[in-house]
Amino acid sequence: MNKERQQRIYELLKRGLRLAEDGDELPTEWARELFPPERREYELVYNGKETEEQILADTMAVPFQEVSTFGKNGVDWHNKLIFGDNLQAMKTLLQMKTDGKLVNADGIPGVRLIYIDPPFATKKEFRGSQDQKAYQDKIAGAEFLEFLRKRLVLMRELLAPDGSIYVHLDEKKSHYAKTILDEIFGENNFQREIIWRIGWLSGYKTKALNWIRNHDVIFFYTKSQNFIFNKSYIPYSPDYRRRDGSVPEGKGYPIEDTWNCSEIDRLDSIQIMSFAGEKTGFPTQKNENLLERIISTSSNPGDIVLDAFAGGGTTAAVAEKLGRRWIAVDVSKLAIYTTQKRMLTLRKNISNTGAPLTAKPFTLYNAGLYDFENLRNLPWEDWRFFALRLFECKDEAHKIHGFQMDGKRQGSSVHVFNHFQEGQISPQTIADLHASIGKAVGDRCFIIAPRGAFLFQEDYIEMDGVRYYALRIPYSFINELHRRQFSALVQPNDEMAINETVEAVGFDFVQPPVVELELTTKAQAVSVKIKKFESKARLRGEDKISKHDALSMVMVDYDYNGKVFDLDTAFYASAIKDNKWKIELPTKEIKGIVMLVFLDIYGNEARIAIDKAKLINKGRRLTKK
Ligand SMILES: C[S@@+](CC[C@H](N)C(=O)[O-])C[C@H]1O[C@@H](n2cnc3c(N)ncnc32)[C@H](O)[C@@H]1O
Repeated sequence: MNKERQQRIYELLKRGLRLAEDGDELPTEWARELFPPERREYELVYNGKETEEQILADTMAVPFQEVSTFGKNGVDWHNKLIFGDNLQAMKTLLQMKTDGKLVNADGIPGVRLIYIDPPFATKKEFRGSQDQKAYQDKIAGAEFLEFLRKRLVLMRELLAPDGSIYVHLDEKKSHYAKTILDEIFGENNFQREIIWRIGWLSGYKTKALNWIRNHDVIFFYTKSQNFIFNKSYIPYSPDYRRRDGSVPEGKGYPIEDTWNCSEIDRLDSIQIMSFAGEKTGFPTQKNENLLERIISTSSNPGDIVLDAFAGGGTTAAVAEKLGRRWIAVDVSKLAIYTTQKRMLTLRKNISNTGAPLTAKPFTLYNAGLYDFENLRNLPWEDWRFFALRLFECKDEAHKIHGFQMDGKRQGSSVHVFNHFQEGQISPQTIADLHASIGKAVGDRCFIIAPRGAFLFQEDYIEMDGVRYYALRIPYSFINELHRRQFSALVQPNDEMAINETVEAVGFDFVQPPVVELELTTKAQAVSVKIKKFESKARLRGEDKISKHDALSMVMVDYDYNGKVFDLDTAFYASAIKDNKWKIELPTKEIKGIVMLVFLDIYGNEARIAIDKAKLINKGRRLTKK
């Protein structure tokens, strides 16, 4: 360590080291030098690899905002479908675990089982209409590994002490992932590499001048050596005899670690594979029977099962059928609506056949992208709680010279301003506050309020060496208090991009795009022309995306019931563009009210309902802001 660093650390220690954003803190990389972590015998080294402590400390927890609950209230647990980046969502789940709110059937806290099928490391590039680079996001190589590793660290923390995790990968990154999994869970907690045979003869396979790959890899790790394993067997066929002619004893053949669909079918006594019933249309959807095997083996009824890359909701659907509790997280709206629909149209059997099954109550939450109007209308206590969570403050009410403070943020006092009663905050308000609490508050004080409540622009006002920070909601405009730039959610605009990793940091508020349509009724279809599309999302440091290029997709419910958006189909922006910004809705599909959801690439929606009865005239024009 050089002299300058030594001097700086000495100064910081003298002043009483604490975390702060104004340069007062000990940079984390120095902490590593001061307290070097124990070196492993071997480890995977790559650029940008953070320490586990850093990952856990730096990940923001984003509160869950309830969007809607399906089924009857009145139970203390709701299964959870969460829209948002899983890293931040898992940090919030971790707080729930600490607060005793994630408990399995046997009373043990934590998630009992995690299954993930993360996107594989590919590249994507969105291009704008004049071939200008409209949006670019590439996660490959080391970046992908670090993306995955961060999430695995959170998953380990979330698991119950006797929990299990299954990580589904393909051959491209599985070897690197194995190394990382060993580092995180411990090589001795690696249980099995499961081979999932996927191969069917396709055109590609007959043409490829190479060996034919026909399997995925699933790594099975446990948090400790004490784990649940409900062993299953493939029953012997009735006419099976041992060599000596005797009837075999026992339950059958133990299941091995190479699985394929036909073997599972044998177990289920189904001769012909049929996944038709369970297909949701979501690309890369996995089979229910795969999840059935994993969930029934590594959890018990009533246990919590988490899939943080939910996609089409296979894990949630099977967990529901097997009487487990579930948490499903996805960053894509399409995945969320697909899962929502799936949970509302379940059938009892695996492969989604048999009698209808009403799912137990589940709640859809937003985590990181919030509806501000709804927040604003929350009762004061709920608002106060949400606001404290949003800025990662501790709920610790206290008084300073009689002035009510609501919590603590990194050791400093936080006041949640009651904009319902107290109006607005001017520099004079701050001066008055300072006059009453003076230096007793320390050198910083945070004030949380909606953006409109502040009558000044600065991030903080300083008086006699005390800084009064304005924590504004929405937050997208402040850099001051964060070590990293916020980055938004990204929604795919092409089917090819559906299986991409997305990283969102921070939180924002829904800002519906502006959409203008022209509808033309034809014999077979209603043609919807998108005359105007404009995203209202404002991102610091990002170029504004030109109008139509900010469209991700249009999702359609042909038979909207006035309450729940029940996804029937989705049109990706790339296809809509090829069709001159038109989508065709077949007349035979249109039942009553059609609900169209226009999604921008940041996850904001504009909804437009079209009433079949009013579609008789040609060339009707609709506008929506
Ligand atoms: C391979 S798919 C999962 C398919 C799923 N197993 C099924 O059976 O349908 C991967 C999913 O991960 C989601 N995803 C990517 N990055 C994410 C993130 N940071 N947080 C949450 N979900 C993410 C994608 O939106 C996609 O739906």
